[in-house]
Amino acid sequence: MRLWGGRFGDGPDARMADFTRSIEVDAELALDDIAGSIAHVRGLARAALLTDEEAEQLEIGLVSLREDVVAGAVVWDPALEDVHMNLETLLTERVGAVGGKLHTGRSRNDQVATDLRLWTRRRIGHLDEALLGLERALVDLAERDGDAVLPGTTHIQPAQPVLLAHHLLAYVEMLERDRGRLADARARLNVSPLGAGALAGAGYPLDREATAAELGFAGVTANSLDAVSDRDFVVEVLSAAALAMVHLSRLAEEITWWSNPRFGFVRVADAFSTGSSMMPNKKNPDPAELVRGRSAGVIGALAGMLTLIKGLPLAYQRDLQEDKPAFFASLRTLETSLGVMAGLMETLVIDRGRMRTAADEGYTTATALADALVRRGVPFRAAHHIVGGLVGGAEAEGIRTLAALPDEAFRAALDGSDDPTARQLAHERGLATALRASATLEGSLASADVIGGTAPARVAAALAAAKDRLGIGIE
Ligand code: ARG
Repeated sequence: MRLWGGRFGDGPDARMADFTRSIEVDAELALDDIAGSIAHVRGLARAALLTDEEAEQLEIGLVSLREDVVAGAVVWDPALEDVHMNLETLLTERVGAVGGKLHTGRSRNDQVATDLRLWTRRRIGHLDEALLGLERALVDLAERDGDAVLPGTTHIQPAQPVLLAHHLLAYVEMLERDRGRLADARARLNVSPLGAGALAGAGYPLDREATAAELGFAGVTANSLDAVSDRDFVVEVLSAAALAMVHLSRLAEEITWWSNPRFGFVRVADAFSTGSSMMPNKKNPDPAELVRGRSAGVIGALAGMLTLIKGLPLAYQRDLQEDKPAFFASLRTLETSLGVMAGLMETLVIDRGRMRTAADEGYTTATALADALVRRGVPFRAAHHIVGGLVGGAEAEGIRTLAALPDEAFRAALDGSDDPTARQLAHERGLATALRASATLEGSLASADVIGGTAPARVAAALAAAKDRLGIGIE
């Protein structure tokens, strides 16, 4: 018998039943649904809508159902439409007629809203762990190989040398913001819709706050219409998940380029690579590519969710059932992507020599050299011009780095400047040697000595702060 079948004559058309049921998807909510039911039963007893004995019978039945769900021993009946009616039916089979009292003062509308909040809260806990796991992998790599130097780029062109640790810690910053966004969303979603009923509020004097506390909610929703139709929290969490996937996708993109032999900055471990069915030579960073690819689905899920709710009048509309498939899949995608990227980073082999050679290409120390002139009194614009001339000259002569320029080149460049301070410097003894030191990779790194800069001491401080936050290396 269908639990809502009282007013219906004909049974459902098979096409309609197949089309509308959701058990394949919402079985995922079973444990949260049972937790909500147990709290609701206790609330009904407190409101004297159940005797203590009835409440105990129901709770024992729900606990035994929970055990079976955990053991994977429950067989879902597609004819019962969704997880709520499956569980209520199974409960009634176990406890008898008293099962018919469970749904007092409750609708599937406040029930599913409660379940989904509980489920999301749990998943945010897992995601936070997974985000921390990738942060740890990045920090470990920064500690292992962080003093490697690579060419930082803008416009994908060589720009300035940076420490590998600095580069990796940039992703740690992104992941920390991802954690923060999920924590914010969690705080806002952590209120109980139970007691909102179908839309107008339950018809009994239920102590909503006590039931909410029982479920670990920080409070209750303030408006019953909003309570049953609000899915803002799904949008917020999907938005945080989409952005986290975008961060992972950016990291994945770097890995694909860096592992290309033309770069040769890194070798992805065999365990995180796949081969080609045809080309015996191939070794591909497939997990990175799939992370990048799967970010598309999560971004799409966010757009889909916003579109789903934009046309819905108050209150619950059946459209809302469609909030789950892409939401569930997206959070799974994020969690598994975080896990695979952590493994990939843990096993990544860095080729410091290749990175260093590349860092020296493209005259990446030019800015540091200009800064060295500025420190000797040359206006920045004049220094920029002088160093630009040195770069042009070096390129024409086939000299690969500014640090390799002869004394004469520095003297001539300064002498030819229309800035009087520069012209005066041209004749200072030992100047070329000092400027050459500023134009090495180490000189360039050292000069970015501000909070958040790539100077080794600043990066060491940032790394120490990250380790501290992550509890790494603390007894
Ligand atoms: N399967 C439904 C959902 O996920 C549960 C709520 C159904 N409520 C209703 N009045 N038909 O949204």
